[in-house]
Amino acid sequence: NPPLVHIQGDAGLEQVKCRAKGGSPGFKVAILGASGGIGQPLSMLMKMNPLVSVLHLYDVANTPGVTADISHMDTNAVVRGFLGQQQLEDALTGMDLVIIPAGVPRKPGMTRDDLFNINAGIVKTLCEGIAKCCPKAIVNVISNPVNSTVPIAAEVFKKAGIFDPRKLLGVTMLDVVRANTFVAEVLGLDPRDVDVPVVGGHAGVTILPLLSQVKPLCSFTPEETNQLTSRIQNGGTEVVEAKAGTGSATLSMAYAAVKFAESCLRGLRGDAGVVQCSFVASQVTELPFFASKVRLGRNGVEEIYPLGPLNEYERAGLVKAKNELAASISKGVAFARK
Ligand code: NAD
Ligand code: LMR
Repeated sequence: NPPLVHIQGDAGLEQVKCRAKGGSPGFKVAILGASGGIGQPLSMLMKMNPLVSVLHLYDVANTPGVTADISHMDTNAVVRGFLGQQQLEDALTGMDLVIIPAGVPRKPGMTRDDLFNINAGIVKTLCEGIAKCCPKAIVNVISNPVNSTVPIAAEVFKKAGIFDPRKLLGVTMLDVVRANTFVAEVLGLDPRDVDVPVVGGHAGVTILPLLSQVKPLCSFTPEETNQLTSRIQNGGTEVVEAKAGTGSATLSMAYAAVKFAESCLRGLRGDAGVVQCSFVASQVTELPFFASKVRLGRNGVEEIYPLGPLNEYERAGLVKAKNELAASISKGVAFARK
């Protein structure tokens, strides 16, 4: 086996053992695609997270530099870097949580589905590694198109005989982060005090904000509802266009991914009442996957909440969302089965 590109000294490993003896929580987290636009700030933020004791950074490029850089941060987590397919298994062995932001991002004029041809294969290979090396890990899928990559991951896990629907979560947190921000702007509130459920999936009309269920209780005019819904559904495109060919959302995504990963880790730790929206295997609708509020616990997704009462505007949005989602899910399943 080629040597790992960077292993922090023995002192770091010793520290993990000591903390384990002391009983303090510490989870092992791998980031696949750690050198990318999302991967780098995500790795930095995870290194700052006190719930993380070991952080594995895997990519097909540039992990030596990213790992050396991040490992100098004076926070608890021990950081190790892994470069290239031949080190994937070492990167994954023993992990509690695997976060996947590997893959190509959009350019202006593209849909997320235009990324399918490249990213489907990347996610499939990475999930085969997970099935082999850490089949019990929680998996957070960020790579687009999420509406298809999550079904691909599920098929890979089924084929390997290890699929546990509670452990596979598509990351739609950025839609919630955006919705909270845009709604707070309209209401004149601090976004941290606003909670907007966003259900469905993670692309265009499949992103369905439930503005009738915003907390704190409020109401919007039909114009506000239209504008807010459209801005939330097109938030990704807003960033893609502003970046003008250099990529899509990376910094807000890293923020959202850490918020979501931290919720997964708090669930694993046994915290009560940890609830986030996520795209998961679901019976909330007739579709096999759907994003809605889920409660996270020691086994991953422990409860999936129903959508709650929808108004007429949301019911119409749900029909559109389900039509597009059905096609994206089937496309992912067909790819993984072929
Ligand atoms: P990027 O191109 O900056 O980084 C991608 C990284 O993946 C690169 O470092 C690349 O080397 C790596 N990579 C490529 N193939 C790999 C493989 N086989 N194994 C491991 N790593 C591999 O892209 P980005 O801006 O970080 O975006 C990554 C993905 O996240 C895109 O598909 C993008 O559409 C998606 N995304 C999703 C959301 C969401 O809300 N779920 C938000 C933003 C972006
Ligand atoms: C986003 O919502 O920002 C991501 O899905 C990236 C994209 O392509 O829009």
